[in-house]
Amino acid sequence: MNLATRMSRLGTETAFEVLARARALEAQGRSIIHLEIGEPDFETPSNVIAAGKKALDDGFTHYGPSPGLPQLREAIAADFSARRGLDVSPERVVVYPGGKPVMFFMMLALLESGDEAIFPSPGFPIYESMINYCGATPVALPLREENEFKLDVAELEGLVTERTKVVVINSPQNPTGALLGKQEIEAVAKLCADKGLWLLSDEIYSRIIYEGVHDTALRYGDPSRIVVLDGFSKTYAMTGWRLGYGIMSEEFSVPMARLQTNATSCTAAMVQMAGAEALTGDQTAVDDMVKEFHRRRDVIVDGLNAIEGVSCLRPKGAFYVFPNIRGTGYSSKELENRLLDEGGVAALSGTSFGTHGDGFLRFSYANSVENIEEALRRFASFLENNPAPR
Ligand SMILES: Cc1ncc(COP(=O)(O)O)c(C=O)c1O
Repeated sequence: MNLATRMSRLGTETAFEVLARARALEAQGRSIIHLEIGEPDFETPSNVIAAGKKALDDGFTHYGPSPGLPQLREAIAADFSARRGLDVSPERVVVYPGGKPVMFFMMLALLESGDEAIFPSPGFPIYESMINYCGATPVALPLREENEFKLDVAELEGLVTERTKVVVINSPQNPTGALLGKQEIEAVAKLCADKGLWLLSDEIYSRIIYEGVHDTALRYGDPSRIVVLDGFSKTYAMTGWRLGYGIMSEEFSVPMARLQTNATSCTAAMVQMAGAEALTGDQTAVDDMVKEFHRRRDVIVDGLNAIEGVSCLRPKGAFYVFPNIRGTGYSSKELENRLLDEGGVAALSGTSFGTHGDGFLRFSYANSVENIEEALRRFASFLENNPAPR
């Protein structure tokens, strides 16, 4: 095909590949429990769906401004300001089709060959993919189980060189569910401000928390070099609508909106109107979803810890668990494959989230308690019947 060289540096999200393999097995009549994909199994709240339909009838079917519709930018600014206790103006909001374009466009706008960017490992795989794609050098910041998968600020500081340009943090975190406290967030934000580094603070799981409180790097750092990523996919079960946003300086919003003009022109207008309703309407559905995730978290953590060879921390946020499977004798990738093919449970190898995910699996608990319990039974019985050769 003679693709551009940079395409060889583009990574992917293996969750979609495992999902495709799981679906192929289902097509052959096999029963598979899906704990691989990172999307809420709840329906988008009905008031949001109604607002999307109404927007279509009201004629929100045309191009709009690249940074987003004024109605939605205002609603996001108000919601973000109220929830974070900050004062953010609508001019600092850029709306995108999902949270992903925020990281893609930020990296495109800032990184080039010779630059370094520090990202969490294990972490959302698209950070490393985009850093590589832009020709910069990705530098992994290990997140360790013994530190509850929270980053170590001294270790981060040790990775900073004169070439470092961007640092990425994510709290609550995918894939570990770790939540950073004020202390870590403040220290990272100040470190970046002191060294003149850009900071991407991925806060897409900010509303999905069971213990502790969410805090934002924007409170402590240099606002001219911080981009906060948040969106609607997880909080409002709107993954398929494609709606997210970045909070940034007014100055940086200009190149960030220009990238959107070039790539997509704008985010779909009726989707943005649905998003405005999501933020300003009844929040009961979000509260109920988080309550249900909390219940499932405890079922899956307790269940995993009862399986020999497996140990699992109790994450404070998001909807993933990241159990240590070293005691089973299996490698992460082999266990992912065999658990799917022979055990009927789709999960992801920790290595899908970077080299520091080795020795772990990621389960998404966006599935019913009944299915989670069945998956735990299948996992335990797979290990019992197939002890790894030592
Ligand atoms: C940490 C993190 N950031 C961003 C995203 C992207 O979200 P969206 O579907 O809105 O593009 C995800 C989705 O899985 C995620 O886990």
